[in-house]
Amino acid sequence: MMEQQLYKKFEELDKAAELGGGTNKIQKIHDAGRMTARERIDMLLDKGTFVELDKFVTHRCSNFGMDKTKIAGDGIVSGYGKIDGRQIFVYAYDFTAYGGTLSKTNAAKIVKVQNLALKNGAPVIALNDSGGARIQEGVDSLAGYASIFYQNTMASGVIPQISAILGPCAGGACYSPALTDFIFMVKEKSHMFVTGPEVVKTVTHEEVDKEELGGAYTHSSKSGVAHFLGNTEEETLMSIRELLSFLPSNNMEDAPIKQITDDINREVEALNEAVPADPNIPYDIKDIIEPVVDDQYFFEVMPHFAKNIVVGFARMAGHSVGIVANQPAYLAGVLDIDASDKAARFIRFCDCFNIPLVTFEDVPGFLPGSGQEHAGIIRHGAKIVYAYAEATVPKVTLITRKAYGGAYIVMSSKETGGDINLAYPTAEIAVMGAEGAVNILYRKSDEETRQRAMEEYKEKFSNPYRAAEAGYIDEIILPKQTRRKLIQALDMAKNKSHSNPPKKHGNIPL
Ligand code: HXC
Repeated sequence: MMEQQLYKKFEELDKAAELGGGTNKIQKIHDAGRMTARERIDMLLDKGTFVELDKFVTHRCSNFGMDKTKIAGDGIVSGYGKIDGRQIFVYAYDFTAYGGTLSKTNAAKIVKVQNLALKNGAPVIALNDSGGARIQEGVDSLAGYASIFYQNTMASGVIPQISAILGPCAGGACYSPALTDFIFMVKEKSHMFVTGPEVVKTVTHEEVDKEELGGAYTHSSKSGVAHFLGNTEEETLMSIRELLSFLPSNNMEDAPIKQITDDINREVEALNEAVPADPNIPYDIKDIIEPVVDDQYFFEVMPHFAKNIVVGFARMAGHSVGIVANQPAYLAGVLDIDASDKAARFIRFCDCFNIPLVTFEDVPGFLPGSGQEHAGIIRHGAKIVYAYAEATVPKVTLITRKAYGGAYIVMSSKETGGDINLAYPTAEIAVMGAEGAVNILYRKSDEETRQRAMEEYKEKFSNPYRAAEAGYIDEIILPKQTRRKLIQALDMAKNKSHSNPPKKHGNIPL
């Protein structure tokens, strides 16, 4: 009988804990069209798989009357569960409890989950929605953040770390997401800034609202802080599940292999017409990527930022691949600072997690101008070559049209470690385009001589044959064969075993 009472008491306490800051606060969240931390976790994970840890943890702060209010869980819901049957760890800030603010105690809950994830080789997902450091806790809260950031850094490159921003994320709170691999934001619902609009106004007299300063659109298209922009929380949570389907659980594993129904030898006739013969006519590189990947499905990462380069995941013969592609439809596919940063970070992610890289190349060069030079295109552009060169995963490159100058070199060229480098017959592999070359070499010549020189240059260099003669291109292929040829190359390199010289870590130009 005694036991029954104890069990009943436990059930009551357990139920109360699940209400976090209480029904009024939950109602307020719902009225604002938002979900609670537990609702988010339930939607994200496979049904019924969530196991909550530290449900009864409370803070130990007594400043400003805090000892009179204790909420079980202390504003964090954390634990483990499954996504598509695979182990994951998760923590969600509970805005109903002290605005989801960070305390010494709930920081320890987060660190516990981060540690478990690292030890057990499984991804961590953070669902952020918080007023930042809990003011009443002073430096204890700041120390809590520091311990989370430390774990983020230790786990980087070992397990995938994913952050969703589902509400406010202010001040130093931004730096845990920033240290993770991918950030998801939701239209109009999420905001990230180091200093909010009020502080901005006080310090710089700039008037800017929170949406413009740090809304989902701003971070997805301007700052490049966010990788995904969702219309709703639900869409965002589903996108996280999808992203994970392309990733291994840790750096010692390979990504899951999907059963395929798409013929690996499928030819795509339309590709023979995809690249315009005139090098000045743009086309959409996704019209080449999509038809050749499994089920024509490409999961794009950072689609709104630095659109002159396209990155994302797809599958080829059931295996995950990371795709990096110049985009001739936007700024002619030129490489600039943002494109360099976007590509380099993606390449390094894929390399950390054993995901082979497929590069589609059509690039006229680096963007000229004092704007780019003064902002450090040399430093940023160097990141791409560094990232490709240090990547030890299989690397397959396909040059569809232009591969000029330094941009040829950095886009996973043979000599920077490309395993198989392919080119279409339409490829132009040269120091620069014919017009630019003639303008330099025949500056003072008459028009007739210039025209003749232009024809000669095109005949000699505006093709893939000089590079193929030198072995810089392994094979010239017909566009319609692209799918089969890429899959053959990836299959050939699937057991690639290559490691860089031992070192503490390299010094990538940052
Ligand atoms: C303690 C806080 C708090 C904070 C919010 N609350 N922020 N309590 N410390 N930092 C409490 C509120 O008092 C309120 O408590 C509850 O959380 C919900 O907050 P509201 O203001 O009622 O909600 P809302 O109107 O939706 O506004 C949310 C908000 C706003 C935009 C997040 O509260 C806000 O601007 N908070 C301050 C954000 C901030 O400046 N944080 C510090 C950043 S500096 P009750 O009891 O009424 O429910 C930082 C340093 C970290 O984080 C450095 C790490 C390296």
